[in-house]
Amino acid sequence: MADDAPPGGDPSVPTLEDGVIRLRPLTLADADAWLEGEDDVIRRWFQFPRPSTRADVSAAIESWARSWREGGRVRHFGIEAGASPTLVGGVEVRDRGEGSAYVSYLIFAPHRRRGHGSRAVRLAALHALQDTPVTRLVIIVDEDNQASRAVAEAAGFRLEGLAEAWEHVELGSMLRYVRP
Ligand SMILES: CC(C)(COP(=O)(O)OP(=O)(O)OC[C@H]1O[C@@H](n2cnc3c(N)ncnc32)[C@H](O)[C@@H]1OP(=O)(O)O)[C@@H](O)C(=O)NCCC(=O)NCCS
Repeated sequence: MADDAPPGGDPSVPTLEDGVIRLRPLTLADADAWLEGEDDVIRRWFQFPRPSTRADVSAAIESWARSWREGGRVRHFGIEAGASPTLVGGVEVRDRGEGSAYVSYLIFAPHRRRGHGSRAVRLAALHALQDTPVTRLVIIVDEDNQASRAVAEAAGFRLEGLAEAWEHVELGSMLRYVRP
């Protein structure tokens, strides 16, 4: 399958929706919208060293698509909302071994504070816990990232304590939220 072909028809790719948002794997056709969605808030909390280029975004989408095809450790979804529908962000579940996986997420600026982040994390978490061997989900978040901490809590995660250095590449004081 070409990297820009939708993985539709592959039984390992679930359709996840809740009546407001829908999660689906990204294709290269999403690259412009993904690039346009990146803002300083996303760059700040993911500690990107510079704004992403189109080549960065294409490479990321190709690696996510490859992971879907090959049953790799990353299950990355674009988040769609609205009748049109519009790409409003992304959420991913990344296996970290021993039945545990990281969840991370972002919502593009024009679509924030409408509950999309919380909905996406809830859907991705349910999928991981029900449809994959994962039994424990982990969100690593900067202690100053109030929006992300609120999303984790709204999605049923509880604060466990300070994250250990091996659990993140970001600098700063990072917290670990877990579910269940
Ligand atoms: C974190 C993020 C995904 C939240 O997405 P969202 O769709 O706006 O989140 P929700 O609408 O589900 O918000 C849930 C609750 O979070 C809280 N919240 C959201 N944004 C907030 C902000 N900027 N400051 C304080 N609290 C905030 C609110 O309590 C909100 O509920 P309310 O607005 O109804 O009161 C978004 O801000 C984002 O993309 N940030 C940059 C990337 C990032 O930090 N990702 C997480 C890395 S761990």
